[in-house]
Amino acid sequence: MYCVKDLVESGGSLQSVPSKYIFPENPEDCIISDAETIPIIDFSLLTSASLKQRSKVIHELGTACREWGFFMVINHGVKKTLRDEMIKACQSFFDLPTEEKRDYAGKKFVDPIRWGTSFNTKVDKTYFWRDYLKVHVHPQFNAPQKPVGFSEIVEEYCKQNRELASELLKGISASLGLEENYIQKTLNVGSNSHQLLVINSYPACPQPELVMGLPPHSDHGLLTIIMQNDLGGLQVQHDGKWVPVNPPPDSFVVNVGDQLEILTNGIYKSILHRAMVNSKATRISVGTANGPPLDTVVSPAPELVDRENQPARYRPITYRQYVEFQQSNHLDGKSCLSHVFV
Ligand code: OGA
Ligand code: NI
Repeated sequence: MYCVKDLVESGGSLQSVPSKYIFPENPEDCIISDAETIPIIDFSLLTSASLKQRSKVIHELGTACREWGFFMVINHGVKKTLRDEMIKACQSFFDLPTEEKRDYAGKKFVDPIRWGTSFNTKVDKTYFWRDYLKVHVHPQFNAPQKPVGFSEIVEEYCKQNRELASELLKGISASLGLEENYIQKTLNVGSNSHQLLVINSYPACPQPELVMGLPPHSDHGLLTIIMQNDLGGLQVQHDGKWVPVNPPPDSFVVNVGDQLEILTNGIYKSILHRAMVNSKATRISVGTANGPPLDTVVSPAPELVDRENQPARYRPITYRQYVEFQQSNHLDGKSCLSHVFV
């Protein structure tokens, strides 16, 4: 397999991108809105002893999920040293010689460790300017043996992301007027819940306006938690415009995934987002897709379904079936979710 990194580094400096990577629509044709920013959630207030503070932040969380599907989380308690180590470890992984990474060139979603390029090269008509490493880190922990120390850092980072996700899901349950453990109990989120680590590397591109790092898509899980090195590139769709996300350095970006849309019967929706690339340096982003156990059947919560006014809008599906379908097709907007529409 040939990855973007090899393409960029082969034979001196690359002047123009191969036609295989030229995205049919000019990504910059769409309206970009710099005027707005995604909401900020102060995580420390979620665990606050003050009921007033807690109900305020739960309300803000509900508004963020309903109106944006994306928010930034500050004061989350994950140490800067761990975040920095994680980014460095990810860079070192992509810096390994291609022959060594090739050991991890998996093909299917079920492969515990999968290094690759674009999204699904079997079906991608245009290649995306992105190399990736996807690792199933929970309930069974997996990690590449190299580089040295990578596995330990990944394990700790992912564990802390699960804890964040769990606390956020409590707040989100409460924001829907449900008991705070509702989502976790209903979907059996806990010791068996599934977590996929996705590390993206978007090398510097000589013609960034012609290519796409990741095309518009929604994420499959309940909540995705993302951090990046100091380069921007993520854009979120809001009111028909693309809003660039410029997270404060110590924050996480969190978004509603398709399983949360199904469970809430569409009250909270997964939102289209995309990744742009730049000409200056390699952008790294680290995401964890936090979902229920793979064999959990996800369907609209009966409490949020009202036969007359709000009938169930999605058909039940196991998380496993859902992700396998998403990962073996084109990454195309919210087309995967449309397969479970009633
Ligand atoms: C993803 C994703 C965004 C980014 O991996 O699903 O949307 O900023 N990544 O890299
Ligand atoms: Ni995504």
